[in-house]
Amino acid sequence: MSNMAKLVLNGKEYSLPVVVGSEGEVGIDIAKLRAETGAITLDDGYGNTGSCKSAITFIDGEKGILRYRGYDIADLVNGGCRFSEVAYLLLYGNLPNKEQGEKWRYNLTHHTLLHEDMKKFFEGFPPHAHPMAILSGMVACLSAYYPESEAHIEINTIRLLAKAKTIAAFSYKKSIGQPFVYPINHLSYAANFLRMMFAVPSEPYEVNPVFEKALNQLLILHADHEQNCSASTVRMVGSSGANLFASISAGIGALWGPLHGGANQAVIEMLEQIKADGGNHKKFVELAKKKDSGFRLMGFGHRVYKNYDPRSRILKDAADKVLNQAGIRDPLLDIAKGLEEAALSDSYFIERKLYPNVDFYSGLIYRAMGIPTNMFTVMFALGRLPGWIAQWKERREMEGLKISRPRQIYIGQTKRAFVPLEQRP
Ligand code: CMC
Repeated sequence: MSNMAKLVLNGKEYSLPVVVGSEGEVGIDIAKLRAETGAITLDDGYGNTGSCKSAITFIDGEKGILRYRGYDIADLVNGGCRFSEVAYLLLYGNLPNKEQGEKWRYNLTHHTLLHEDMKKFFEGFPPHAHPMAILSGMVACLSAYYPESEAHIEINTIRLLAKAKTIAAFSYKKSIGQPFVYPINHLSYAANFLRMMFAVPSEPYEVNPVFEKALNQLLILHADHEQNCSASTVRMVGSSGANLFASISAGIGALWGPLHGGANQAVIEMLEQIKADGGNHKKFVELAKKKDSGFRLMGFGHRVYKNYDPRSRILKDAADKVLNQAGIRDPLLDIAKGLEEAALSDSYFIERKLYPNVDFYSGLIYRAMGIPTNMFTVMFALGRLPGWIAQWKERREMEGLKISRPRQIYIGQTKRAFVPLEQRP
């Protein structure tokens, strides 16, 4: 392949460098385009824009491949990896050896407690506050407790990874009026979280190993997804020099939307709606095809995957296994499978290459664990944290502090004369 692309604009020819990634992805470097031609590129929604070079996560949307630092997602999940190891992999580039893993886990578990004063904030939130609002507020608030300098990035990374699950569990406890349950250091990340969510001081609590394993897998599957809306937000905010906690808090806000991480909550709400309507999933497939209905099949379609989302493939099996092992019969799982089958054999979905994404089956597993629907996006955020931090650090380390600042094509009013108030019609 040539290492230059040619562009002809107003009869003049320009050469633009071609950049090829390690998996053969091709990009045209337009960094000097405006300086040389006076023109910019326009790509509403960034569907065709590479915002950075990154060495963290590789996706081939056509083939349905997802790899973290070169490791296939299925190998990490099926190879018995812990979520904490995957976090280490994303942040430092390699899986930890035994000694590194032990030290990393020690650090993560020994920073799980929140500053006691932070607990007072939970009292101020209204009882039905959405836990995503609490999570994003409390994560931003960590910057008030742990001021940041370059020297603090490592320790703040550990603090954030460790404390986010405590914040998440406390927000749930607050919403149901139960006392906060403090973390226990010898438990795994997943087990510790489940215990903080569901244990009460008045009786013993055993973590269900089926749920612990499933949660560990879910967290791994969500751990990174290259330049999606929230990761791009984290990188963008970080590019201004904003601290880690503020940048991640902004990413949590981006994730909340129903077109992004909020879709896992929306899927269960949709399945409930179909059930309440009599369970006729075909009717809803038809509705999703009508543009003016305002209804989309939540958990279907993806900007990058034009094939089955590899995470959804794993989660579909996991949903079956977890529900079976836990002896739970959830009619929503049958509706989901019926919906998937109907959509995948429908020309509208086939032509547009719309397949189930990560959010389609994840909620059914969270539901089986007893996690309430409004906590689903929080679960996504807990999983995505290492990815966001890795993206934030990479942005800071690879590109220095060059601020992200896109341009625009202005389509508003051209210059007009000012009209004083008394003369305006
Ligand atoms: N149901 C019905 N039609 C759909 C759907 C859907 N779920 N998704 C896309 N389409 C149609 C869309 O109407 C368009 O049709 P046409 O070409 O006739 O105008 C075509 O497929 C392409 O869709 P798009 O909206 O241009 O694609 P996009 O890349 O901008 O959007 C998406 C991707 C994920 C936002 C979208 O597929 C969607 O809204 N899905 C439902 C929400 C969802 O499940 N989101 C979770 C995404 S995965 C996890 C994450 O990123 O957090």
